[in-house]
Amino acid sequence: MTPGQKTATLKERVAAELHESRRRSLALLDPLSEAEQITQHSPLMSPLVWDLAHVGNYEEFWLLREVASIPPTSPVYDDIYNAFDHPRATRTTLPLLGPAEARRYIADVRGVALDVLDGVDLEREGGNPLLNDGFVYGMVIQHEHQHDETILATLQLMNGDGYRPVAPAPPSGASAREKRGAAKRRSQRPPPLAAGAAAGTRLAGSLERPGALLAGVVDRTSAPGTAGPAGLGRRRPAARPLSPALTN
Ligand SMILES: [Fe+2]
Repeated sequence: MTPGQKTATLKERVAAELHESRRRSLALLDPLSEAEQITQHSPLMSPLVWDLAHVGNYEEFWLLREVASIPPTSPVYDDIYNAFDHPRATRTTLPLLGPAEARRYIADVRGVALDVLDGVDLEREGGNPLLNDGFVYGMVIQHEHQHDETILATLQLMNGDGYRPVAPAPPSGASAREKRGAAKRRSQRPPPLAAGAAAGTRLAGSLERPGALLAGVVDRTSAPGTAGPAGLGRRRPAARPLSPALTN
């Protein structure tokens, strides 16, 4: 394989992984009403629509500005979606983008990010360390997946019938063992949470201390140098430490 072919393959993989993380995010949120996306279901968690726009803002920060020096879309967005300046409990008071606006924003960012990806060199020795082996792309992809976990936790806290995403069927080429595993997972989905059950009661039962829950949840998507999906960005930039502004 020539270096050019290797680069093309890596870029195709980056694009596919970006698409998959976004597909998951929207698959979790699209079934919800507008009100459910805006509501803060627990003071421990953000309004769901905050997470959605935040992953786009994070993507803009790294893949547009850091990689391509593209000017910010809006300093207001940078403030609203800065997790360190706005604790989760207070985010419902911010002038958040609505569900449709958030989707337009993250789609616009993604379109530019893919254009930038077309033009960058992921293999050049001595180049931008963020680009080495697709590191920064892996980081952004991982960040969105981690917010999908956060979104799932929020969905578990919703009052009402509870929301249980349906596990997708395995691809047609999956082995019999993989198909059995997928069927078993679908059959073992927990029943809906009791309507009206207090979120704090459920959490206290499993984690005992809300403080421990906050530490675990808040920090989970904040780890500097978070590695992306296997194979993307295994070579971390050594000369330029990542900003601690990676957020949750
Ligand atoms: Fe984050």
